[in-house]
This record gives sequence, C-alpha cells and structure tokens, in this order.
Amino acid sequence: MNRGLRARALSVLAANDRVTYTVPSGLLYPFQWNWDSCFVALALQTVGSPSEGEDRAWRELETLTRHQWTDGMIPHIVFHTDHDGYFPGPSFWGTECSSPAGTPTSGITQPPVLGLVLEQLWSRSSQDDSARLRCRALVEAVNRWHRWFGLARDPQATGLVSILHPWEAGRDNSVDFDRALASVPITDLPAYERRDTTVVAEAERPTDDDYDRYIALVVLFRGLGWDAAALHDASPFRVVDPGFNAILLASDRALARLGPAVGHPEIGDEAARRAAIGLDALSELWSPDRGQFVCRDRRSNLLVDNASIGGLLPVLVLDRDDVRLHHLCTQIEEWLQLAPFGVASQHPADAGFDPQRYWRGPTWLITNHLLAMGLRRTGRDDLADRIAGSSRSLLERSGFAEYYDPLTGAGLGGSTFSWTAAMAIELSMPHPSPLGEVDRLGDREPPRL
Ligand code: DGY
Repeated sequence: MNRGLRARALSVLAANDRVTYTVPSGLLYPFQWNWDSCFVALALQTVGSPSEGEDRAWRELETLTRHQWTDGMIPHIVFHTDHDGYFPGPSFWGTECSSPAGTPTSGITQPPVLGLVLEQLWSRSSQDDSARLRCRALVEAVNRWHRWFGLARDPQATGLVSILHPWEAGRDNSVDFDRALASVPITDLPAYERRDTTVVAEAERPTDDDYDRYIALVVLFRGLGWDAAALHDASPFRVVDPGFNAILLASDRALARLGPAVGHPEIGDEAARRAAIGLDALSELWSPDRGQFVCRDRRSNLLVDNASIGGLLPVLVLDRDDVRLHHLCTQIEEWLQLAPFGVASQHPADAGFDPQRYWRGPTWLITNHLLAMGLRRTGRDDLADRIAGSSRSLLERSGFAEYYDPLTGAGLGGSTFSWTAAMAIELSMPHPSPLGEVDRLGDREPPRL
C-alpha cells in the first residue's frame, strides 16, 4: 500500500479516536460498537511507538469488556456519551443496570471476533509481563462471553448458537433474514425517527419496513427486562447464522491456543471442547445444492435457501482436506468473476442481489479480511491475495467508505469509516493476517477432486 494511503487511514482513525475507544464514524455511529472496536484495535497496535500502539490496542478492548454484562454478554453498542445522532439511543434500549460499569449499552450482542483479534494482537505484542496480564484478563472476559452464548443462545445444547436480532449478525438486512424478519409483528410500535437516512442515501440502507421490525424486536426485548432466557424463548426472530457461528468457533480455537500462553490452560481446554462440538454441528447448515453453508430458521427448523457471504465465512474453520472448503473456494471465485470489487455480501447472480443496499450485495473490507484470513490458514494464499488485492483497489479508488458497490467499486454508506481505515492498515502489514500460525495446517496438498 502506498504511504499516502496509510497516512490517510491514520488520520481517519485519529478523527474517530475518543482516547479510550474509537467510534466507527462520527456522524453515523457516534458510540463504541463491539466488532468495529475489535477490528480497529488491530490497526491501533501499529500506531506510534510499539509500546504506545500496544497500550492503545489493549485499551480499546478493555473499554469494551469493561461493559460486559454480569451474565457474560458483551453488548453491541456502548453509549459512552450523550449524542442524538443515532437511533435507537441509550434511553430507548433501557438497559442501564445490566453492566457493572453503569454506562448504558444496547441489549444485544455482535459477531464475536474478539477472540480472533486477541490472538493476533498477542502474536504481535511484546509478550512481556504487562502484555500477558492484560491479555489474560481479556481472555477471561472472552471465555465468559462464549459461555454465555452456550447458555443464552443454545439452551438445547445443539452446538450452534442463534441470533435474536439481525443487528447481532452484523449483516442487518441480509436476504438471509427476510423471511424470519417478516414474522416480527409491528403493531403498536412507538413513533420513532430514523437518523441513519439523514446521513446516508436511503437506497444504501435497510428499508423502513426493516427498521420497523428491528425496533419492534428491541421493544419486545425491553419489555422482557433483557432477561436472556426469556428473550430466547419469546423472540419471533431466531436464526442460526453460519457466518456468526464460524466466527465464534474460530474465536474459540484462538482461545484454545491463547489460553495456555497467558496462564489459562483450562480456558484453552474448555474453548477447544466447545470448538470441536460446534464444528461438528456446523455440518447441519451445509447446502449441497448451493455448495455453501446457509442459515437455519430455528423456529421453523427450516434451512434458508439463500447464498450470502455468511455461508462462505466457514473458511475460517474448515480443515484443509474438507471437500466443503473446496466448494467454498469455487463459490468465492465465481462471485469474484461476477462482481470483481471484493467479495459481495450476496450471490451476485441472485434475484435478491442489490449492489448498493447495505448487506444485500455491497462488499465490506472486514468480511474480505475474514475470508482472506481463513483462506491463508488453509494454504489458499492465491485466493486470499486476490481478495486482498481487490480490497486495496477499492481503497485507492473510493477511499475509506463503509462499504462498496462490488460491480463498480464506488464507495457507499458512511465515509471516513474506522474499520475500513483499520483494514487499510492491516493490508499494509508485511505478513498478512496469520490467524494463529499454529493453526496453519502444514504443507499438505489441498484435496484433488
Ligand atoms: C445500525 O444501526 O445500522 C447498526 O447496524 C446496528 O448496530
């Protein structure tokens, strides 16, 4: 990456830096978001002197985990300040008492990339006593979060967890969720005003109907006092997302390696057990017709016949000799042929594909990053390099947009976006995303079909 781009990425991060945390985007998202902060921490580690960078990266994550709920959940938004630029804000969620820190948060969670990120930070850190202590405390927090997933989101112990709100997937308006979301009743909704469409064109955001249902879920959960068990059983939206589960499994594998390194071998064993069970269970989301994984609606127990990027993310966890990995790579190649600017969020030949509308088609640098991480660990550096190359060309062509049109490369959504800047910095690293060097599967040949 050219030096100018790195300097611009650093200035985006500096503008969004709030000293102990980073906002995704000053106008559109003026608080701390869970998975945004995790990706941003990777870049923060490289800013300033090695000790300054390391300190700032740990701090970003410590700020997030300080707002972990007493039941173990790490919320998707921490409302550190008052700001009326975002809806639904703190008073709408009504969760004030759930985190010991007392700062209001949202009441739902987000894709658990924290374990994955921690391993990367640790592998590049000084690994001195202070780093070990800080990483150890974060490992404990992640392990409590992952236990919470099992209890709160997989009460039948199937090995796979549900999301109860599309915002939890981070892929809010994916075609994957259309049917489940349509079953959310929207009678008796309080009046509310969207803020997102005052900043971003409506055609690039979820529809008003989507929003009504997002808000209806928040109102329902708020009425249940944010009691995790009650939410699970009462939610009309309960979806098992392969992307979300693959991220959780990959993070558990990261904990399995990291636990012993920071003096918690028992956490390592516990995480390894969870990952083994989850990986086995993931098979039930495989669609031979689609050649990829798909969601399952946990209420109807039916698979959702749709090809989204969520179903490609299991490249993070499949073994190199798993034939399904080969199919996923074929899918990624096909998608890139149809839409060359990064991997689209929805199959580009699908009727539901919309290249501009948020998670119904646009490409995102963080999902490109996760796919590339997964591919590298299985020896598909060629495909990972192709994805990384397309991410670079998006940055050069359209700057630090929230997401991009995968057909034209045009920037979409919010501008000067933190996680996009963070991914730009990540792409400039000499050794791209190792995803636990110890997890690389040696020099065995990929399977021949
Ligand atoms: C939003 O508000 O658009 C977010 O995706 C929810 O976190």
